[in-house]
Amino acid sequence: MTAQFLPFVPSEPVPQMVDDLYLDLLKRCLTRAICAHKVTRHTIAPRRFHFRAAKWILDRLLSPFHLEIVQLRPSEESDYLESTHEARGREEDAETMVGMKQLDQMQAAITDVIRRQVPGDVLEAGVWRGGVSIFMRGVLKARGDQRRVWVADSFEGLPDPEQQHNSFGWRKGDMAVSLEQVKSNFSRYGLLDEQVVFLPGFFHETLPTAAVTSLSVLRADADLYESTREILTHLYPKLSVGGYAIFDDYQNLKDCRLAIDEYRLEHQINDPIISIDRRAVYWIKSAQSS
Ligand SMILES: C[S@@+](CC[C@H](N)C(=O)[O-])C[C@H]1O[C@@H](n2cnc3c(N)ncnc32)[C@H](O)[C@@H]1O
Repeated sequence: MTAQFLPFVPSEPVPQMVDDLYLDLLKRCLTRAICAHKVTRHTIAPRRFHFRAAKWILDRLLSPFHLEIVQLRPSEESDYLESTHEARGREEDAETMVGMKQLDQMQAAITDVIRRQVPGDVLEAGVWRGGVSIFMRGVLKARGDQRRVWVADSFEGLPDPEQQHNSFGWRKGDMAVSLEQVKSNFSRYGLLDEQVVFLPGFFHETLPTAAVTSLSVLRADADLYESTREILTHLYPKLSVGGYAIFDDYQNLKDCRLAIDEYRLEHQINDPIISIDRRAVYWIKSAQSS
């Protein structure tokens, strides 16, 4: 799809300070960009029944010996700029699907709200393995800021998608990662502490009554029309003026885009939309909404 938005231009200087160097390394670890220029392992997922059955049998024969059949692909630094869907050479065990461009923008957004003293916590709705939320906590820690990181997900994958808004063919439970696994991922980076608050459950159950009072950064990454609507309905009014509304999948999933376009129209939001990579966009909230 042709981008019709303003491009995101990082305003931060090239990393020089120790905290910027830490954040640069954190981004490379979370995306696995640190593995660029290696041959990386990829799971083989055959579509045809016979190949699937053959693989199933081989997997069972090899697993007692801790062996696995994988495909090896060379990777380049450029494979890690966009999300995993756009780049086939990327290491597949990363804690996030997003690439370096989206993490650069998240770093710039959090740094900017701290500098301009925009009030409110930061929140990601739709976290999968937790990588972006882990990075949000890393940025706050590097900057010495006390805001909380809210981590909202079912931790059971997608809810049953509404059929009229499922052009991608999602299924219930897709992308499930347990709460224990996400907490363990935070822990492995040394970033699980009392500033991180988990909101486990489906959005329609958790978001209406969540104890979130004010947000300075709201990131939505939930793939479905209804999930995106729920995030907007319950959380956008809590985003402070001057805060960042960030949406993965606006450019590549038409159901997400519809949910966002409808909400903008209903609430007369005309803030310019800025493109981050081939999928994500953001805008800065200029007026208080109901
Ligand atoms: C694309 S993944 C998120 C990717 C992640 N932000 C990253 O950086 O890699 C979508 C996530 O949204 C969650 N999700 C979607 N709809 C939801 C809903 N209605 N309630 C709770 N979680 C939901 C899924 O469980 C899944 O973890």
